Amino acid sequence: MPVWRPYTSHWEGMPPTLPIVRATGSYLYTADGRAIWDGTCAWWVTVHGHCHPFIAQAIAEQAHTLDQVLFADFTHSPAEALVEKLSHHTGLSWGFFSDDGSTAVEVALKIALQYFHNRGEPRRKFLALEGAYHGDTFGAMSVSARSAFTSPFQELLFEVEWLPFPSHENEGKLWESLESLQGRTDIAGFIGEPIVQGVAGMRMYEASYWDAIARAVRRIGGLIIADEVFTGFGRTGTLFATDACNEKPDILCLSKGLTGGFLPLGLTLVRQEVFEAFYSSEPAHALYHGHSYTANPLACAAALANLSLWERPETWEKYHLLVEMQRTLAAQWQTLYPETPVRQKGLIWAVELPSPEKGYFAPHRHLFKKYALERNIFLRPLGTVIYILPALSSTPDELIKAVGVVESYLKEVAAAPSL
Ligand SMILES: Cc1ncc(COP(=O)(O)O)c(C=O)c1O
Repeated sequence: MPVWRPYTSHWEGMPPTLPIVRATGSYLYTADGRAIWDGTCAWWVTVHGHCHPFIAQAIAEQAHTLDQVLFADFTHSPAEALVEKLSHHTGLSWGFFSDDGSTAVEVALKIALQYFHNRGEPRRKFLALEGAYHGDTFGAMSVSARSAFTSPFQELLFEVEWLPFPSHENEGKLWESLESLQGRTDIAGFIGEPIVQGVAGMRMYEASYWDAIARAVRRIGGLIIADEVFTGFGRTGTLFATDACNEKPDILCLSKGLTGGFLPLGLTLVRQEVFEAFYSSEPAHALYHGHSYTANPLACAAALANLSLWERPETWEKYHLLVEMQRTLAAQWQTLYPETPVRQKGLIWAVELPSPEKGYFAPHRHLFKKYALERNIFLRPLGTVIYILPALSSTPDELIKAVGVVESYLKEVAAAPSL
C-alpha cells in the first residue's frame, strides 16, 4: 500500500486501514458488507451525512455545466452567489477562496498582516489561545499550540503571544493578559476558535470570553479572526459559533462543513473596511495569493446546496432533536460518572477518560478506536477525550448506542489500572 496516511505512524505494528466502498447517511460500508456508524463526520466535514442526494445532484449538474475557470480573470455564479449568501448571514462583505481549512487560515493571517502593511502602519504580531489548532501549513502551525505536531519545525514558526485558555480557573490570568495589551501598536490581530477548541480535545468556553478578548484586541486596533473551520455549520448550537457572540469577527475562516463534506474548499470572509486596504491601483497593494483550483465551481455548487439545506426548517428540526439528545445524554452521564467529566455544546458530546498519560498520544486513542470499531462504530479520540459528533442523518437511537459503547469501554477497559 504505497499511500502515506495523515497523522499516522507507518511501521509494522500499524493497525490495518479499512477499505470503504460506499457511504450513505451516517454509515460507511466495507467491502465485506459491514455498516460502520461514522460518529466523526469524516473529520468533521459531512454535516448532513454521507452522499447527501441534494448536494450530490447539485455537483452533478455543475459538472455538466462548468468545471473550472481561471478565477483571476473569470467569475461564475456559484462563487458569487455563495459569497453573497454568506455575506448576508455574517455581515462580512468580501470572500477569498482557497482549498481547505489551513489555507483559509493562512489567507486570513496574510490579509491581516497586509492590511496594516498597505495602510503604512505595519503590525507583525498575532495573539492566539493556548491549546489552539489552526492547521498544518506554516502560518497556521505558527498560530497553533506548540506540540508534537509542530516540534520538527519549531524554529521556523513565527512567534505568537498566547492568551490563557478562557475558563473560570484562568480568568485572573486572562484579564491580566488582556489588560497588559493596552498601548500596544504591534498587534495585527487575534485568531481563535470561537466557543470550542476542537483538536485540543473539544475544550469549550463561554461566548462572553470571546467577546472580552475581541473587545480588548479591538481597543488596540487589532483585527479579530474567527477560525470557524471546525465550529462552522451547526457544530455549537447556531450556524456559526460567532452567531452566539456579540463581538463579530473582522475575518472569518470557513472550510470543512462548507461543501457538506463533498469537496475541499476554503473561504476567508472579510469586513468591507479590511478589503478597502487592498482596493488600490497600486499593484503592490493586491493580495498575491491564489490556488489553481480557487473557487472551483463544483465545490461552490456543493457549498450552495449545503446552505440551501440549512435554510430548510426540517434541517433545524432534526438539528434540535439531536442537540437535545446530546444534552440529555450528557446530563445522564454526569449523574452516573461524575468523576469522568462530560462536555456538550450543540452537537458535540465529549468525555475525558481517566488516564495517567494525558495528551494526544495517550493509549486510549488506539484502544478505544479499536474497541468501538469492533462494535461497528467509528469514533476517533483526541488523546484521552472521546467525542461524538453526529451528522444530521443520525438518529437519537444511534447517539444512545454510541454513548453506550463509550460507557462499556469505560467500565471494561478504561478502568484497568495499567491505563
Ligand atoms: C479549527 C481548525 N482550523 C483549521 C483546520 C485545518 O483544516 P484542514 O484540515 O482542512 O486544513 C482545522 C482542522 O481540523 C481546524 O479544526
